[in-house]
Amino acid sequence: MSDSVTVRRLTPAEAAESVGALAEVLIDCVEGGASVSFMQPMTEAKATGFWRSVADGVARGERALLVAENGDARIVGTVQLVLAMPENQPHRAEVAKMLVHRHARRRGVAQRLMQAIDAIARGEGKTLLALDTVTGGDAERLYARAGWQRAGEIPNYALMPDGVLCGTTIFFKDLSAQP
Ligand SMILES: CC(C)(COP(=O)(O)OP(=O)(O)OC[C@H]1O[C@@H](n2cnc3c(N)ncnc32)[C@H](O)[C@@H]1OP(=O)(O)O)[C@@H](O)C(=O)NCCC(=O)NCCS
Repeated sequence: MSDSVTVRRLTPAEAAESVGALAEVLIDCVEGGASVSFMQPMTEAKATGFWRSVADGVARGERALLVAENGDARIVGTVQLVLAMPENQPHRAEVAKMLVHRHARRRGVAQRLMQAIDAIARGEGKTLLALDTVTGGDAERLYARAGWQRAGEIPNYALMPDGVLCGTTIFFKDLSAQP
């Protein structure tokens, strides 16, 4: 399936036009129990508000927004690279909001998104990437497979959508140390 999926970086105009489609993916993930900043009940208003602010960030050049589209050009996955960093960390970027619709999971979509993130980071002159993810979640294996290193864990960092506390695990990837 991942062969029939196209991964691409959206232009600012495309990001603004994709707010509704991206909201569908976010809502599906939160309804599926993903800890990605939102609590249940997840609403269309919260989701579209979030993606509008992301699209504004894309327009300002502060972040890169990637999508994975299936053969029908429907968005089934997304991830972001936050490029705007303090002036003493110009070489650094953060990966955020890796989301794959439940219907499209376990077919390598997230892996394709992570490969594309590396290429975009290099193109933007970024050599050190970081991210955090819920401890014990499915994404931990994904990042380890993609060559990320585990820096450590912070217990009781956030709430799951149902209100239960969860830890976060910090990962990093030094692109300058990899071919
Ligand atoms: C974590 C997440 C992004 C993974 O997306 P995905 O597209 O299913 O990821 P992949 O398909 O690349 O890999 C997932 C698993 O499927 C397996 N897989 C990949 N292609 C496969 C295939 N063709 N056949 C069978 N299994 C396959 C992978 O080996 C991996 O196995 P694992 O469970 O042992 O780790 C997705 O589960 C998700 O969106 N979760 C909710 C949001 C979330 O938690 N995001 C992380 C925020 S930091």
